[in-house]
Amino acid sequence: MTDSNPIDALRALEAEALDAISGAPDEDALEDARVAFLGRSEGRISAVLRGLGQLSADERPAVGQEANRVKAVVTAALETRSAALGRPAGASGLDLTLPSRKPWKGGLHPITQAVDEIWHIFRDLGFSRARGPEADTEWYNFEALNTPLDHPAADEQDTLYLVDSVLLRSHTSPVQMRTMERHEPPIRIIAPGWVYRRDTYDATHTPAFMQIEGLVIDEGVTFVDFKATLAEFARRYWGPDTVIRLRPSFFPFTEPSAEVDVKRVITRPDGTREETDWLEIMGAGMVDPAVIENAGYDSERYTGWAFGMGPARIALLKHGVDDLRTFFENDVRFLGQFAR
Ligand code: DAH
Repeated sequence: MTDSNPIDALRALEAEALDAISGAPDEDALEDARVAFLGRSEGRISAVLRGLGQLSADERPAVGQEANRVKAVVTAALETRSAALGRPAGASGLDLTLPSRKPWKGGLHPITQAVDEIWHIFRDLGFSRARGPEADTEWYNFEALNTPLDHPAADEQDTLYLVDSVLLRSHTSPVQMRTMERHEPPIRIIAPGWVYRRDTYDATHTPAFMQIEGLVIDEGVTFVDFKATLAEFARRYWGPDTVIRLRPSFFPFTEPSAEVDVKRVITRPDGTREETDWLEIMGAGMVDPAVIENAGYDSERYTGWAFGMGPARIALLKHGVDDLRTFFENDVRFLGQFAR
């Protein structure tokens, strides 16, 4: 390598640069190599390019071409090595123009939110929370609740049986008996949980759905306690102007039985007030003495009331959603709207 042969000198520089680049153990070493060969003031290849003007007119084109080729090869090698080291080429290795990643924000499912709000209202009214198994026996799901197995509700058409007399509970009412067996009155419980029915999956039915059971058993509990407590619940959940109405109904485990409806008064942004339609929220009633006796309690001494409601339906009406299935499709664009 002599000064009289700048092309040879450039090729030697190229080899040296490529060695330094491929041997660079990290970004810092790579950056040192870049500065040593291509740095604006001290780079050895840059110096050759700067010195082109001092060459003779004969030499200049060939040396210039070779210098540019070496510069391109070394630049490409720097980029390749940098990518291999895991960061883009550039002084800091950071691309500050990239949009940031939005962190995912977790949130409770709208049905879970409804269950929690409802449970918290009853908790404030003195209820505690109870639970029972989702796979239960015919006894707890039907017979203990005064429902003979030839009752239409016990039909295999409606209920998902597992083996023999074991089934997926079709309502949360079995928690009534399971609680009464383990505790003496007074009993005031709320039991939210999944229940299962052989339903087609459509806008208003899902084969698995949430229910919330309520049960009160004590001495001297009357229909007045029943109606007043539910009216108070409705006011706390939907607002102070909410009223309830009871419609006669039938359930094997209550006597008398009722469907409970609520009507809300909505205040529009312009201040005008409007009543909603009656909205059915639960089945309920005074606990049948036969159920109280099945629990081993004296039905002359103890009375009570109970209800079962569907929080998914309540959440659906609250949010103006028209298809239950959207709650279960787990599309984050839909569910994210309710996150809090
Ligand atoms: N278990 C009933 C159902 O799933 C709902 C129900 C009605 C529960 C009346 C009760 C009750 O506790 O008293 O349809």
